[in-house]
Amino acid sequence: MKLYQLIFYCSGVILFSCGTEKKDTYQEAVSHLVNVERFPFYHGVASGDPLTDRVILWTRVTPEDPSQKISVTWQVSDQKDFSSILKSDTLSTSSAKDFTVKVDATGLQAGMIYYYRFMALGKTSEIGQTKTLPANPDRVKLAVVSCANWEWGFFTPYEKVSLRTDIDAVIHLGDFIYEYASGKYGDTTIGRINIPKHELVSLQDYRERYSQYRLDKGLHDVSLKLPMIAIWDDHEIANDSYVGGAQNHQPEEGDYANRKAAARKAYYEWIPIREGQTHYRTFSFGKLADLIMLDERLAGKQKQATGPNDLSLESESRTMLGQPQVTWLETQLKNSSAQWRIIGNQVIFSDVSLKPIYPQMPRNFDSWDGYPMEKRKLKNFILENKIKNLIFITGDAHSSWAIEAATDVKKTYSPFAVELVTTSISSANGNEYAPDDSVKVSEQQMLKINPHVKYLNNRDHGYMLLTLTREKAKAEWWFVETVRVPDAKEFLGKSIEVHAGEVKIRE
Ligand SMILES: [Fe+2]
Repeated sequence: MKLYQLIFYCSGVILFSCGTEKKDTYQEAVSHLVNVERFPFYHGVASGDPLTDRVILWTRVTPEDPSQKISVTWQVSDQKDFSSILKSDTLSTSSAKDFTVKVDATGLQAGMIYYYRFMALGKTSEIGQTKTLPANPDRVKLAVVSCANWEWGFFTPYEKVSLRTDIDAVIHLGDFIYEYASGKYGDTTIGRINIPKHELVSLQDYRERYSQYRLDKGLHDVSLKLPMIAIWDDHEIANDSYVGGAQNHQPEEGDYANRKAAARKAYYEWIPIREGQTHYRTFSFGKLADLIMLDERLAGKQKQATGPNDLSLESESRTMLGQPQVTWLETQLKNSSAQWRIIGNQVIFSDVSLKPIYPQMPRNFDSWDGYPMEKRKLKNFILENKIKNLIFITGDAHSSWAIEAATDVKKTYSPFAVELVTTSISSANGNEYAPDDSVKVSEQQMLKINPHVKYLNNRDHGYMLLTLTREKAKAEWWFVETVRVPDAKEFLGKSIEVHAGEVKIRE
């Protein structure tokens, strides 16, 4: 049986439509990525949305006959050799969900490592490892990631996270995939070519891209070892998406509502996320921390302002979150009695002038700077309700930042929270567009005109570790030497601390 027949059946729902030329091209493109011994679980296993008593388990079974339903058994054990099986059941999957499998394994103990596996078509999957949330920990360590673009590079930072043994969960702040056609955003010279080659619009398109991404070694490894708490940003749908449209959605691509529904369905199929609730949600780490994950795309976001002179920019009704989510967020903040409140945030919250990089457009109107009234209201809520020990963790920027979050910054400012921005897994930093030295100069200029920004690196890919104890929050930015070739080394780029009771970045 040929590789493409094993892996991506010509069903129209798997990965490629049935044309000989396409199949050969595809076979060539993915053959080096595929471990044939993993049949039919080529896409590995994954876990996500851990709570103290349950966790989502995920896999995907590549079918031999895509017209048939496939019976899948899952097992959970606290022993790596499965000598005792704590939970097990059998379910079925089909083309209706792209042969993905998702289980909410309940009745587990808090803060425990569990092993899980799947059986289907006479084969057994790799053994995944996951962890339930601790009930009342003294310490929590999170790996914070965002922005993995296939064509820009190998997902080595994910691989580095997978090698760590003390992580409680991986927090993915979005851009798990990118929707672009091949060559539109990336470096095709390194040989990682998007599948499909065209821009994602249909359900099948999005499924194919997720399928390709899950063949990356780094994503495979981190999914195998650690639970992920994910939220989407724009590229899981289309660039600069909002409720009613996206910068990268044109009328000739059809109805945006259909595209959004397709993107959302594929996301829920391919990401280990709990279904049947709003995308924004909270995770409790006992008395130590509450993690509040926001949806800054599809829950309520209005179209971005066109520029500083757009009359709607300062409108009272301009919203990033939508009123139901604002009310929910305020309730979460007010009711939280934990030592720390961590907000999983997609786009930068703090006021930031980008003048040295974009002199014509110094504010990013897709970020919170484009929703100033709502930001101001949230800031006032935080101050009036004396919400302390508040940290925004942010993605999207493809660069690393430590910010004492403030609005209306001049030479002096009054910070009300801390914002820590993780860099990209592989999406382009500044120095993929400009020489290193000029990026370093612009970083220094940015720090000078933004006194509340205490650290900025626009040159490295990697991830951020956030370690919380009662006394302090520690952030470390870990970078890899390159993502253009696999197996690069990692190094510590920067470490800072925030002490409880302060709104101050300590180096
Ligand atoms: Fe991104």
